[in-house]
Amino acid sequence: MRVWEGPGPVPPDVLRDEVGPVHGLLTMLTDLVDVSLLDKAPNLKVVSQMAVGVDNIDVGECHRRGIAVGHTPDVLTDTVADTAFALLASIVRRLPEGAAEVKTGGWGPWDPFHMTGGDLHGTVLGIVGMGRIGSALARRARGFNIKVIYTSRDSVSDLGERVELTELLVRADHVVVTAALTSETRGLIGINELSLMKETAYLVNVSRGPIVDTDALCEALVAGEIAGAGLDVTDPEPLPSGHRLLSIENCLVVPHIGSASVRTRTAMANLAVTNLVAGLAARPMPNAVPAGD
Ligand code: DGY
Repeated sequence: MRVWEGPGPVPPDVLRDEVGPVHGLLTMLTDLVDVSLLDKAPNLKVVSQMAVGVDNIDVGECHRRGIAVGHTPDVLTDTVADTAFALLASIVRRLPEGAAEVKTGGWGPWDPFHMTGGDLHGTVLGIVGMGRIGSALARRARGFNIKVIYTSRDSVSDLGERVELTELLVRADHVVVTAALTSETRGLIGINELSLMKETAYLVNVSRGPIVDTDALCEALVAGEIAGAGLDVTDPEPLPSGHRLLSIENCLVVPHIGSASVRTRTAMANLAVTNLVAGLAARPMPNAVPAGD
């Protein structure tokens, strides 16, 4: 067994140089498993990803070559939903801006309309992609008396009302993106979509950065087309420290920590190993990525 100890992700050339004799790969979402890597891996039988999202892996190509792919759904659903709700609550109630004001000595006398933001209770929440995480978020929304509307490719849920994306953007008081990154969802939220949102609406993304067009989001925030954004994921990722998004006050960015509770990351690691071992033993993996995903 070879383990990359860091720092940071394994460099692609190191992975390419070492993958030749390897039967099983345990990957992170920072490892690109594309045709050029697979061409160097004639012995590979299984790729096991320690994440639910597998957009860094050419799953179709793996399956064509008889390589099984595993991932870690379910064990992270509730933690990511907690993070999504926390991001939404933080930006809607303007907590980061308030905290920054206090820290920089700007806290003046109480003022009736100072730093007034939006509400969570009694609002309409639009969830883009009603999968496992979207549904867990919708369950949390119920407790806050929030009505849920959602888009979904194929599932119907009793947790809210299913609508088309355009209607969702127009009607929602706040929008949370939980859809997986695929060729269909890349760039899904761009200039046109942002312009449909209410000026008082906040956007949260806990899925993958490239679903939201970063330049369009910056423009929309600066122009006041939407009220603010909360991002656990960005494009590019990591976001360089001087990036324009970081200078925008009503934008809260955290470093892809949606599933980062100790318990959940441990469960993800264990599940990734279980998938890997099952794949190597040619047994069905507990969580194989199905063909077509
Ligand atoms: C995932 O699992 O895809 C997350 O982005 C990391 O938890």
